[in-house]
Amino acid sequence: MYITMIDGPDLASHLSHLRSLIEARLNFDSQLSHDCPRQLLDSIRYSLLAPGKRIRPCLAMLACEACGGDPKDALPAASALEMIHCYSLIHDDLPAMDDDDLRRGRPTNHIQFNEATAILAGDGLLTLAFESLAKEISDPQVAVACIADLASAAGAEGMVGGQQADLEAEDAAHISLEELEAIHRRKTGRLLTAPLLMGGRLAGANGETLNNLKIYGESVGLAFQIADDLLDVVGDSSKMGKNVQKDADHGKSTYPALLGVEESRKRANLLIEQACEAIANFGERGNHLAALAKYIVERDH
Ligand code: IPE
Ligand code: IPE
Ligand code: MG
Ligand code: MG
Ligand code: MG
Repeated sequence: MYITMIDGPDLASHLSHLRSLIEARLNFDSQLSHDCPRQLLDSIRYSLLAPGKRIRPCLAMLACEACGGDPKDALPAASALEMIHCYSLIHDDLPAMDDDDLRRGRPTNHIQFNEATAILAGDGLLTLAFESLAKEISDPQVAVACIADLASAAGAEGMVGGQQADLEAEDAAHISLEELEAIHRRKTGRLLTAPLLMGGRLAGANGETLNNLKIYGESVGLAFQIADDLLDVVGDSSKMGKNVQKDADHGKSTYPALLGVEESRKRANLLIEQACEAIANFGERGNHLAALAKYIVERDH
C-alpha cells in the first residue's frame, strides 16, 4: 500500500511481497521476554510495527536477490536495519532534537509514552538489532562483516555523527553545498548504503560487486534525503504521516533551502542516474533495484 504503482505493477507487487515477510519478521523479532518491562516493550513495538515504508529492509532483500541469493536470506539484516532506523526516528523526534509530534501517522513515541521511555525504546532497538544479527546469521564471517557494516553506518562517523552535524548546522549563517552533502551522507546516506553491502554479503557477493552496490547505495542514500527535504517543502502531511514545513522553522540546512526546489530535484535525479549506472552490469537482476531508485525520488511520501 505504501509503494504506489509509479514503477509499474512489477516492482509494486514484488515490494508488497517482501514487505509482508519483513512485517512478520519484525513482529517475531520484537517479542521479548517478561524481563523487558511492559511499557518499554509496548513503546518499542508501537514504533517498530507502525506503518513505515521499509525501504532499508527492502534494499537489503533486493541486493541479495540481485546477487543471485534468496531475498529471504537477507531477513536478519532487513530486521536489524529497520530497528536501527526506527531508533533513529524515535530519537530524531525528541524535544531535544527535531521536537516532532507526528510520525508514521501516529503520535511520536515520546508523546504516546514519555521522553524517558522513548529514549530507552531507542536504546533497546539499537542493541536488539545487533543481538539479532549476531544470533541469526549462521556464517560467522558474514555475521561479523554485517555487524561491522551496520555499526559503522549507524555510529558516530555515520548516522549519529550526521545527526549531531545536522543540529549544529541549525541556524548556521552559511553552509556550503559540500558541508550539507557531508551531513546528508552521514545522517541518512550511510544507513541506506549498509543494506546494499549486507544484502550482497548474505548472497556471497565478491568485492567488485559489493563495490558497485556501495556506489548505488551512496547515490540513492543522498538522493533519499534530498527527496525528504523536498517533501518537507512540497509534500502533504496526511500522505506522509509526519508534519511538513518544519525544516524552515527549525532553521535546518536542507537542499531546497540552499539550492531551491528545481535545482534540488535535478541533483536527486542525477544521483539516481549514477546509482543505476553503478548496477548496469547486473543486467535484469538489477531491474528491481533500478526501479526502487527511481521510486525514491518520485515518491510523494
Ligand atoms: C525518514 O525515513 C527519515 C529520513 C532518514 C529521511 P523514511 O522516509 O524511510 O521513514 P519511514 O521508515 O517510511 O517512516
Ligand atoms: C532524519 O532526518 C534522519 C534520521 C532520522 C537519522 P529528518 O529529521 O529530516 O527526518 P524526518 O523528516 O524527521 O523524517
Ligand atoms: Mg532530523
Ligand atoms: Mg526530523
Ligand atoms: Mg526531513
